[in-house]
Order: sequence, then structure tokens, then C-alpha cells
Amino acid sequence: MAKDIKRVAVLTSGGDAPGMNAAVRAIVRNAFNNDLHIYGIMRGYQGMIEGNIKRLETSDVSNIIHRGGTILKTARSKEFMTPEGRKKAYENLIYNDIDALIAIGGNGTFTGAAQFIEEYPDIPIVGIPGTIDNDLYGTDFTIGFDTAVNTAVQAVDKIRDTADSHNRLFFVEVMGRHSGYIALHTAIAGGAGGVLIPEEETNLDDLVKLLKRGAKRSKLFSIVVVAEGNHMGTVYDIAQKVEEKVDFFDDIKVTVIGHLQRGGSPSYFDRVLASILGFGAVEALMNHKTGVMVGIKNNNVHFTSFKDAITKTKPLNKDLLRMAHILAQ
Ligand code: F6P
Repeated sequence: MAKDIKRVAVLTSGGDAPGMNAAVRAIVRNAFNNDLHIYGIMRGYQGMIEGNIKRLETSDVSNIIHRGGTILKTARSKEFMTPEGRKKAYENLIYNDIDALIAIGGNGTFTGAAQFIEEYPDIPIVGIPGTIDNDLYGTDFTIGFDTAVNTAVQAVDKIRDTADSHNRLFFVEVMGRHSGYIALHTAIAGGAGGVLIPEEETNLDDLVKLLKRGAKRSKLFSIVVVAEGNHMGTVYDIAQKVEEKVDFFDDIKVTVIGHLQRGGSPSYFDRVLASILGFGAVEALMNHKTGVMVGIKNNNVHFTSFKDAITKTKPLNKDLLRMAHILAQ
């Protein structure tokens, strides 16, 4: 029979994402509602290894729903990838009488959680998808994606003003080492003239053809949104290669939005999503679930095993991509 859960710890791990605090708040508040004791582990798995664990009260999560970043801090722990590191982490949980864990993060976070459960199955773990990349199988949206896209779209809108005034071509790099979600949604919402993403091979000739087609229609400026992990190289290389082939813009410029996308107050959507998932994670533990990520599918809470969440690829919506290409012309 599964043991009763009394003391739950929560951590945030990997890249921070706007809305993580809203998830922590929902976890703490629902834990109190269920008479659980709740603990915050600072700096993700690294804090678990170092025993950086503190009791959380409901007052600790007051006034954080609107704050970006994570009050629990975060880290990408190399030590947790080793059996010795995980053993230390387990011993600290036992020392603090913690009997369940909620891990908020992305692929790396759930890879660590899956490994930990295999070695220490007596500690149930539920995961919450928190990453701006929206690249996790088993959930339509991850916490932080909506806010990151809004930030990127605002940047593209501003770049559009100066691109238009000067007849310039801008390459705007957005985040996404392995995933084109941010780029695709930014390109559609920002009315971009092109989008380069990891999920699709684009070559220089295709890109030049696209820009020439625009020029024929007297399109005097353009913005191409480039995901970090695209197939053509760094955004600077792409700009240079294109500069050698096109002469109809006054100039070609590059803007890297970078970590701006990771910060800022979470959007309403991310706050609601984070609240639903944080609340749902506590319910899941109370219902003796373990080794699963709580996500959202077609507006309903949905559980996916860590194994599926980390090994299966969430396909990009091909119809959306086709539409983006057509609307870009
Ligand atoms: O995984 C989220 C992400 O924001 C990626 O899109 C990006 O490539 C990476 O993190 C950047 O990580 P770091 O903050 O370690 O530079």
C-alpha cells in the first residue's frame, strides 16, 4: 500500500520561466489546504544535494504571483547526474523527513527525476512543465512560453518601426536550441517575412528567393525570425551570407533578443496555467501518482509519464508552419 504523504518538497530546476512563482504559490496553498507540510528546495537538484531545504508557509508565497524568475532559485546541476550526487540528495530528503517531491522544469529536470525514481522509488515525484521553449511532449503549453512569446513579439513590433523607417532587413534571433515554438509563434504574431526553425531545413537559396519575392512586390523592409537552433548557422552568419546575395535593402541588421525572453511578469495565461498545474501536482501526489508530469491538453489536466515526456518529441503544428510561410509572403 502507498504510504500517506505528509511532507512535500518543491524545487525549480533548469532555465527559469515566467510563471514558476505562480506554480510554487499554487502548490503551497493547495498543500496547506490538504494539511501537508511543504518545503522549498533552493537552487534545484543542487540544493537537494547541499541540503538547502527550508519550510515554506503560505505567507512565503504572498505577493509572488506576478513576479518573473523563481523565488526558489534554479540551477543546472551536473552533480545530480552522478549516482553519488543523487545519493546525497536522497539522504537529505530522508534527513528532512520529506516523503514526496514536486519538480518544476523542462526536459533535463524530468530526466533527473526519472533517474532518481528508478533508484529511490520510495519518494514519489510529480513534475510540472516550466520552460519557455514549450518543447515538452504531453502538454499543449509549458509555463513561461506565452510570456516569452509576448516579449519577443513586443521586440519585433519595435524593430518593425526602425526597419520600416530605414528600408532594412532584420534578422531577429529568439530562443529555442531544439525547438521552433517561440520562433514560429513570434513570426506569426509579429507579421514576420520569414521564419527559420530547427524542425525545418531551409537553405540560403530558399531564403533569398523568399526575400526577392517580397522585393518584387515593393516590400522595402523585412523581418526574419530565427530560432537559435535553426539549420543555417548563427544569426550573424546568416545575415552575412544573405548580404552577399541581396542588394535591395538599404542595410541588413541583426537583433538577438536573448535572455530578455526569460524574464518579466508572467502573462495572465501563464499565471492561470501555472496555478492549474501547481494545484494539480498536489492533488496527483495525494492520489499516489508518481513518475508523471502534469500538463494541459485541450484545456484539461493531463498526465504523462516522465519517460514519454523526455523521450517523445512534441511535434510542431505543420499546418501552423505552412500558414506562417504563406502569410509571410
Ligand atoms: O531551455 C530554455 C532556454 O531558454 C533555451 O531556449 C535556451 O537555449 C537556453 O535555455 C539558454 O540557457 P542558459 O540560460 O543556460 O543560457
